[in-house]
Amino acid sequence: VGAYGSGGLACSAEAARAADEHDELASARQLFALPDTMIYLDGNSLGALPVQVGPAVTDLVDRQWGQQLITSWNVNDWWRLPARVGDRIGRLIGAAAGQVMCGDSTSVQLFQALVAACRMRPGRGTILTDADGFPTDQYLADAVAELLELKVVRLHPGELAAHLSDDVAVVSLSQVDYRTGELFDAAAITEAVHAAGALMVWDLCHSAGALPVELDAIQADFAVGCSYKYLNGGPGAPGYIYIAARHLDAAVLPLTGWHGHRSPFQLSQRYSPAPSIERARIGTPPVLSMAALDAALTVFDQVSLAAIRRKSLALTDLVIEFARTRLAGFGVEVATPLPHDRRGSQVSLRMPAAYEVCQELIARGVIGDFREPDLLRLGFTPLYLSYADVYEAMDRLAEVLADGSYADGRYANRTVVT
Ligand SMILES: Cc1ncc(COP(=O)(O)O)c(C=O)c1O
Repeated sequence: VGAYGSGGLACSAEAARAADEHDELASARQLFALPDTMIYLDGNSLGALPVQVGPAVTDLVDRQWGQQLITSWNVNDWWRLPARVGDRIGRLIGAAAGQVMCGDSTSVQLFQALVAACRMRPGRGTILTDADGFPTDQYLADAVAELLELKVVRLHPGELAAHLSDDVAVVSLSQVDYRTGELFDAAAITEAVHAAGALMVWDLCHSAGALPVELDAIQADFAVGCSYKYLNGGPGAPGYIYIAARHLDAAVLPLTGWHGHRSPFQLSQRYSPAPSIERARIGTPPVLSMAALDAALTVFDQVSLAAIRRKSLALTDLVIEFARTRLAGFGVEVATPLPHDRRGSQVSLRMPAAYEVCQELIARGVIGDFREPDLLRLGFTPLYLSYADVYEAMDRLAEVLADGSYADGRYANRTVVT
């Protein structure tokens, strides 16, 4: 490890195999069911299937639902599942127990967090968000601003200092840019936002499970995220919201579903929020997919995020080194920042015909994805990727670029999901 990039050693199949021999995470591969013939570089979109998930879902369906039916809300404690899974996620994002609730989608949770945060800063008229942020983050900032009669200012996170003022209520940013993989300094940004008297909402979709996140330590206010990427919860797995303990009483969430009531089974006619993180519940949770997520998260009981981060940086160093030395001749540029402290767990390669190249790469067994307008986006999940896999994937990319058949029109009709 450390042999690539800054170390300047050979970027070769032999060096990759040697790195695998010292890989402290090598055994984690057994925790996943992945096709042997596929090299999967899309765990930043949909994580691979942890082997524990199948039996957990089968048990939920056959025994808990099939045999115990409605009694499962008590006997199998379905009622507390969202908070239990929330606490499990909390351990991965530096949140002490009682501050994370699992459920609904990232988009819904972002709406909850933005409205609650803006309401805590009455008299301030601006939400700041990333001009290159994921669309849902931008759309929801606009929607919340319209609802609360605020305005949205879009910026690059690097320009934040120039935009912070006593009119800013909330700053909403993703910790890692979904397109380029740029990692922002969450501690410094949160501190600057607080110094301006505003509150910070972090979107952790591309950081949770990929690198250590320390929400309590950086005094984050609110955070949201999904669980189907690096947390491997499965397609459509529920999102989550973090509300710092110090804000729990003051956080007035807009979606007042009955599960968030202080006493749901009193079935009273007026809403009164639970005094704890339970107020972040909305309606009946998706028990099947939450049980799958619960099982998927057990993977993280056996590995450390520090080890994941070390290997992630070594893998992305390898990819960057390969791209700079072997792919530059094909017009490939590395769009991901080179410094480790500014890089998430993906590498985005800018190139002509990125969509077609991506499709041809998939046809040759290497799964990545394409992001408009010209990015081949490759995600690196250290839990199930070896150095040899990653070297092999890059070698196949070099082959695809060299033979050029991707450009013969075979990918003229684009798929719905790119
Ligand atoms: C930064 C970011 N936020 C949010 C989402 C998705 O939100 P949702 O889970 O509501 O579909 C994504 C999806 O890729 C994302 O990258």
